[in-house]
Amino acid sequence: MAPVPKGSTVAVTGAAGFIGGWVVRGLLDRGYRVRACVRDTNDGTKTDFLRQMPGYASGRLTLHSANLDEAGCFDDVFSGCQGVCHVSHVSTYDDPEYMRGVCEHVIASINNSGTVNRVVVTSSIAAIISEADLQELVRRPVFYEDRYPDEESPKRTTERGEGYSMGKVELERLFTDAAEAHGGWDCIRVCPADNVGPILSAHQKDMGPWQHNIEMMLLGKYYQNGAYRPWMTVDVRDDADCHIRLLENVNVQNGERYIAWSTDTRNVEDVCASIDRLLPELGHATPEVTDNFPERIQAREAEMRAIWAQCELRNDRICSVTGATFRPLDESIRDCVESLLSVAKVKPLLRDGFKPAQSLEPLSHGV
Ligand SMILES: NC(=O)c1ccc[n+]([C@@H]2O[C@H](COP(=O)([O-])OP(=O)(O)OC[C@H]3O[C@@H](n4cnc5c(N)ncnc54)[C@H](OP(=O)(O)O)[C@@H]3O)[C@@H](O)[C@H]2O)c1
Repeated sequence: MAPVPKGSTVAVTGAAGFIGGWVVRGLLDRGYRVRACVRDTNDGTKTDFLRQMPGYASGRLTLHSANLDEAGCFDDVFSGCQGVCHVSHVSTYDDPEYMRGVCEHVIASINNSGTVNRVVVTSSIAAIISEADLQELVRRPVFYEDRYPDEESPKRTTERGEGYSMGKVELERLFTDAAEAHGGWDCIRVCPADNVGPILSAHQKDMGPWQHNIEMMLLGKYYQNGAYRPWMTVDVRDDADCHIRLLENVNVQNGERYIAWSTDTRNVEDVCASIDRLLPELGHATPEVTDNFPERIQAREAEMRAIWAQCELRNDRICSVTGATFRPLDESIRDCVESLLSVAKVKPLLRDGFKPAQSLEPLSHGV
């Protein structure tokens, strides 16, 4: 199958989101025509940032209302597109039947378009490493594209919080099989890691977990992640770049899977401390942990940290096939913080007695 022609028309689902917004921006920067699919084009709080992109003024960027809960919502939008980046979340990952139904109608719109020749489907590293039994990380500590969570584990259920991981594995399978069966379009799967980096619109601070966690740290509340795991990151701009490279690349094949991450990992307490280290002029009052683990987890924390520390993250495949490069996490944290202040007007908690730069007043004070 062919990659999408440079400058052709690409639809992006989830375009108002953190990753989708950057995919739209990256496509416009590279000369594409973009159909940005959002749930409601009339919701200015979520869509005005797209209208402010230069391509909107000329008509190279258009906005389309499409609710994934309505079958056929992409029929008109995909018709005439050569590429689709299916980035969107769904309403729930805990209902397998609903999840399958959504995939099937998105696939039907692709099939019916008659024009789409490549689809990049956004999965997640949760479809690589979400283990219901931590010992699975000991048995299979190398994280690369051919790895899946242990699907045989009896603990792998939606009730135990595995719905997201299960849903993403299913999404990948359904799209890959459909592309194979149709024969007219490629499905390329991308599994992003923990996205950190600048938000494009204030509403995005409340969405993906990582930028929200950094916002909370700025406000003086630092939460751990579940039963401890380090942040395993990708800059959101690099993630978007990976999506576009996969759309354009002549060497990727139908059904292939690529992880998008820098392979940088960092413990959550170090992420929190990084804010003051990277931006000392901000005077951020680095908070103590807000939510101590329950005792049963505390008793196993050292063991969990040791298990995660011996895991090996690999990005050889995406780097060698697409030439993608990844920013260091420090750059992503710095730019995330600065966007939270400038775009979302977050007021960070400052060290007592710290005199902030003029432009940041008024700010609250803490410890
Ligand atoms: N953020 C991460 O660290 C991360 C890591 C791995 C994988 N991913 C994957 O990357 C994708 C994007 O994540 P993100 O962080 O950018 O999420 P996000 O900021 O929450 O954006 C997701 C978008 O999905 C759209 N959406 C949700 N339900 C919808 C529905 N029923 N109909 C239409 N649109 C719907 C929302 O549209 P509206 O805003 O228009 O309502 C939203 O803009 C997801 O598939 C996620 O699983 C994210």
